[in-house]
This record gives sequence, C-alpha cells and structure tokens, in this order.
Amino acid sequence: MKRIISGVKPTGKIHIGNYFGAMKQHVDMQNDFESFIFIADLHSLTSEKNPEALRTQSLEIAKNYLAFGLDPKKTLLFKQSDIPLVTELAWTLNCITPMGLLERGHAWKDAKENKKRDPNVGLFDYPVLMTADILLYSADLVPVGKDQKQHIEICRDLAKSFNNLYGETFKIPEEHIVKSVETVPGIDGQKMSKSYGNTIEIFSDEDILRKQIMSIVSDSKGIEEPKDPETCKIFAIYKLFLNENEEKSLRERYKKGNIGYGEIKKELFKKFMEYFADFRKKYQELSTKESYILDILEEGKKKALPIAEAKIIEIRKKVGIL
Ligand code: ADP
Ligand code: TRP
Repeated sequence: MKRIISGVKPTGKIHIGNYFGAMKQHVDMQNDFESFIFIADLHSLTSEKNPEALRTQSLEIAKNYLAFGLDPKKTLLFKQSDIPLVTELAWTLNCITPMGLLERGHAWKDAKENKKRDPNVGLFDYPVLMTADILLYSADLVPVGKDQKQHIEICRDLAKSFNNLYGETFKIPEEHIVKSVETVPGIDGQKMSKSYGNTIEIFSDEDILRKQIMSIVSDSKGIEEPKDPETCKIFAIYKLFLNENEEKSLRERYKKGNIGYGEIKKELFKKFMEYFADFRKKYQELSTKESYILDILEEGKKKALPIAEAKIIEIRKKVGIL
C-alpha cells in the first residue's frame, strides 16, 4: 500500500481552502493509502509567538480532522514536535542544501518583499524541515494545495542530492494536487489564506460565517444584467458545494440575469451550513473530549516514533555519525 503524508500548521482557524484543497483529500484517501497526518507545530513557530495560542490551535487542528471524519484507526495522526528526530534530519539536510535553492523559495521571497514582516532563519529553512517531514516517513505521495508545490519540488531535489552523495536512501515523493480545488479563492479574490484575513472559516459561529460569506467581492452589475460565472468569485466558491448539474444550472441563472449577488450569497450561506452541518455537530461533541484527542495523538506518536528511529539510524550510518 502506498503511503501518504501531509501536515497542517496550527496557526489561525481552518478555512474552506484548507478543507477542499487538502484536509478533505486526507480524509478521503485514508481508505486507500497508509496515511500519516501531522500537526505542523514546529513550522508554526516561524510565525506564531504566542505559546498559549499555539497550544490551543494544535489541539484544535486534531479536533478539526476528527470532525471531518479522520479515523484514527486508519490514519496515524500525530504532532510533528512529538518526533523531534525530524529536526535532526532537517539539520543533516541543511548541510547539503544550497543557499540558492532556498533563496528562490516563494514564501521566503514574499516575506522579504513584505516589509511588515521580519523574516527569520526558520522561515528561510522552512522547506528543509518540510522535506525532513516527508523523507523521514518515506512517503510516496503528499496531498496538498498548489501553494505547496514548490516545497515538494525542493524536497525531491534534496532527496536526489542526498541519494547521489550517500547512496540510495530516500524514496522520491510526488505531490498530489486536485486541479479543481488547487487554489480556493478568498473573499477578496486572492488565494484564501489564514495570513491574508480573507477566509471563510468552518467551525466558527454562524454570525461570523454569514458575515464572511456576505463579504465576498463581486462586480457592480445590477440585478437584471446577465453575469459572468467564470470571473465571479462567489461562483468560484459556490461551485465547491455543487454537483455537476447544480453547477450547470447556477451557470445558466448567472447568464440569464435577474439574479442579484446578495441573493446568491444568501443561497450560498444556506448551502454552506447544510454541507458542514454534520461536521459542526461532531466538532461540538468533541469539545468536551480533550483527553480522548490527546490519547489519539499519543497513540500516533507511539506508532510514528519507531518508523522515524529506524530511518534516522539508516541516515546516521550513511553520513558517518554512527
Ligand atoms: P494557510 O495558507 O491558510 O496558512 P496552510 O499553509 O496551513 O494554510 O495550509 C494547509 C493546507 O491547506 C496545505 O496543504 C495548503 O496547500 C492547503 N491550502 C491552504 N489554502 C488553500 C487554498 N486557498 N486553496 C487550496 N488549498 C489551500
Ligand atoms: N507547509 C505546509 C503548509 O503550510 C505544512 C507542512 C509542513 C506540510 N510539513 C509538511 C505539508 C509536509 C505536507 C508535507 O501548509
């Protein structure tokens, strides 16, 4: 059985971009793959400086996954920092990583250009830690949104360099990106992201969600005018919740006109609440089950550790520190 691995940073509230672009895939794939999913708390340290927030958010990600239907019997769910060997591998990989490779990283370039942030070494090295996450567990596939594609390419480059230098050690992984949901737009039209404040969350209060959905940008076409579904951000988000026929019929309503954006957004809100109703209910149920969630993470740690240890011993021998 092929193995998948993926992680989500515990920074901010989970949104529909995270769900459709990545987390849904993780849950759907658990039946056909050996699945490893982790809470990328070490990656969050590059931006999250509030210890209490990091602690709460880490547990929250686990709760979100369980609410989405992740089955801990099928998926190994763990906290990245519970397997500190990953940082040893990141260091070993640092020592074969050309500076130039990381200087071309999108996230690093963005951080440098955005004068508001003070880019730290952790952010520069982010792709190497991510490479270590993937290679330590010998994953075949990495299901992610399109924004992570470059990181997986860096991972492949580093795995190949290591294999060339020290002999065959690492499996070369592939990204798994679902084209139709590779970049979910935010309510302002750019990519939806926790860091842009343009998200539609999933487990927040109804009032917040209504407000977020009602704020999706549109053009200024009047009610009677025909509208263009292909350029409309409301349509791009609405279609995530529709089957083929429903999407077709919405497209036709757009083209005919006599439909206002406000009305479409109200419909979308209703659809949204229906779509996520069971997940939100499950989430509420999990609210009082903190120790159950902690046990699952502990179990995940117990299972992930021997796999990581075996791989690290192989790597130590290869590079000559054992
Ligand atoms: P964010 O950008 O909101 O901080 P993360 O970096 O934690 O999100 O991403 C977690 C996962 O969700 C990654 O696999 C990422 O590619 C995916 N993802 C995030 N935003 C989107 C989006 N707008 N569309 C599709 N996938 C996304
Ligand atoms: N960088 C990913 C993100 O921002 C999170 C992540 C960390 C990850 N390590 C990973 C994803 C390994 C896939 C595989 O979303």
